Amino acid sequence: MRRNIFIAVGLLAGLGAGWAGFPRAIYSRRPQPVDFSHKVHADKAGAKCEDCHGFREDGSFAGIPTLDKCASCHAAPMGSTATEKSFIDTYVTPGREPQWLSYARQPENVYFSHITHVKRAQLKCAQCHGDEGSADHLRPFEQDRVSGYSRDIWGAPGRPGMKMDDCVNCHRQSAAKGAAGTLSAQAGERGCLDCHK
Ligand code: HEC
Ligand code: HEC
Ligand code: HEC
Ligand code: HEC
Ligand code: HEC
Repeated sequence: MRRNIFIAVGLLAGLGAGWAGFPRAIYSRRPQPVDFSHKVHADKAGAKCEDCHGFREDGSFAGIPTLDKCASCHAAPMGSTATEKSFIDTYVTPGREPQWLSYARQPENVYFSHITHVKRAQLKCAQCHGDEGSADHLRPFEQDRVSGYSRDIWGAPGRPGMKMDDCVNCHRQSAAKGAAGTLSAQAGERGCLDCHK
């Protein structure tokens, strides 16, 4: 009897340690180059998403902004925080691009177009990216040690995932909802080559 209890306790402790340690074992964590705050820029600079993540004339998505966007405001300090000073000294003054790590980046063989999803299908950024655009800090980037994918593809806790199944499920749901002839009826079933190049 006592022995069984020891075994049970040992097992539970082992499970607990595994549960806590597992994400660390499979994901390597790297900090972002600058602790950029989406919240500060919305509150203090009144910046809109499209100021930094807009579409170019040809419809392609600008993605993560380059340093020249930041430098237009930060050529000289806007405030007195140490984070801003270190950003200016390390990147703006020497003209060095920060090497941002993209949480959402898909494997090379996937084709994804923002303009069809954002403009035509009228989806909100948060539907696919979670609350990234209103956060006060940038989370560390977590990379799967085996596949090299970002953890966000599988959906970190509390975040939407962006696996093949997630794309396909939304397309099916949108097509069902849009059966009355709205644009989303065009989501539907997609062939492999619609999403893969
Ligand atoms: C002043 C410029 C600026 C503005 C305004 C801005 N962002 Fe960003 N955003 C950034 C930078 C810089 C990053 C790079 C961090 C990173 O690697 O994810 C980023 C990253 C992101 C990402 C993560 C992309 C990825 O896969 O790594 C999302 C999602 C995002 N922004 C959404 C938004 C939304 C939504 C808004 C409006 C509410 C917004 N952003 C406004 C500069 C901006
Ligand atoms: C429209 C002007 C504007 C643009 C464009 C802009 N910023 Fe800022 N930024 C601000 C303001 C205003 C503050 C707040 C300053 C203060 O009061 O401390 C700020 C603060 C910061 C800080 C200080 C830390 C913090 O979160 O408070 C960092 C770092 C920063 N910005 C980085 C960036 C980067 C990187 C970009 C380009 C992707 C960028 N900024 C683009 C206006 C801007
Ligand atoms: C239907 C889902 C979906 C919606 C809606 C969406 N995104 Fe994305 N986003 C993605 C995917 C998937 C990627 C990765 C694309 C790739 O790797 O080719 C991505 C990548 C990004 C990146 C990183 C680009 C890079 O260079 O790595 C930024 C920044 C971003 N999205 C911002 C936004 C903003 C801002 C909005 C709203 C205006 C938005 N997204 C709406 C799915 C979405
Ligand atoms: C939250 C819902 C949603 C998610 C998630 C989503 N899509 Fe879509 N997608 C749509 C809708 C709605 C349309 C139809 C847009 C239209 O043409 O009206 C569409 C259209 C498309 C198209 C055809 C139009 C084009 O851009 O060529 C492709 C390809 C596509 N999606 C790829 C993807 C991929 C890859 C992913 C996952 C990384 C994804 N989608 C995730 C809703 C979604
Ligand atoms: C709606 C968009 C979509 C369609 C349609 C689609 N895929 Fe994918 N596929 C993805 C995305 C996004 C990924 C990357 C994320 C993942 O691995 O789940 C992926 C990943 C894969 C992978 C794994 C590649 C890797 O590097 O791990 C294979 C294999 C694959 N797809 C094959 C197919 C085949 C075969 C079809 C047609 C029957 C198909 N896909 C249709 C979006 C799509």
